Amino acid sequence: MGLLAIIGGSGFASLPSLSVIDSRPVETPYGETSAPVARGRLGDREVLFLPRHGPSHHLPPHGINYRANLWALRASQAERVVALAAVGGITPAYGPRVLAVPDQIIDYTHGREHTLHDGVSGTVGHIDLTEPYCEDLRRALIAACARLGRSVVVGGTYGATQGPRLETRAEILRYERDGCDMVGMTGMPEASLARELGLCYASLAFVVNWAAGKSGRIITMKEIEENLVSSVEPVMAVLTAVAAENRAA
Ligand code: HPA
Repeated sequence: MGLLAIIGGSGFASLPSLSVIDSRPVETPYGETSAPVARGRLGDREVLFLPRHGPSHHLPPHGINYRANLWALRASQAERVVALAAVGGITPAYGPRVLAVPDQIIDYTHGREHTLHDGVSGTVGHIDLTEPYCEDLRRALIAACARLGRSVVVGGTYGATQGPRLETRAEILRYERDGCDMVGMTGMPEASLARELGLCYASLAFVVNWAAGKSGRIITMKEIEENLVSSVEPVMAVLTAVAAENRAA
């Protein structure tokens, strides 16, 4: 059975309550990962951890080697992957400090290496992405929130934007018309690469700001940072609870 892996995003260059057993660089056919893959204990469960922006948060969303990261996790025996995602909230239920487990994605990114079926290795492949997240792991995240008595918004559409800039007010209105509830910069191609690799991937999103135009004010890094800091405790609680239930470890 495989391990539970956690991909850390903004605010999670490391996991505060992870006791690291070892940390190894993994060679991949796609080049370097964002960081060595750490193996450690969360509560009494063994998990893998990889910070997608690197150990010192130096990689911008479009500079992340998503292919290497996902490939390295699978090579390290990951079976399930929880992707942490700091997001901007668009629709009313997704205000700052809300936890959410999205169920759909719209991809607005461009120019990223986004597939393993790139025609170079001789394979042409088409994966189904009707349901872009692993339902089993989504349910585990939602159940963990319920056990802990933490409120969570179940579902929602994640709009993956190119970044690193934040959006214009008109862009957010357009994404809202498209059906997006939240925006973030790293959810794609991470989710589709995970599917290509047969990994069970879901996202634990936490809202760190109202998206552009939704609060009537401009967005400051101060508010984002404050909300990131406040998200650490609830996110760690949910991760620890999900790891405890992971049948694989
Ligand atoms: N837009 C895009 N990505 C984000 C945001 C946002 O407002 N907040 C956190 N990640």
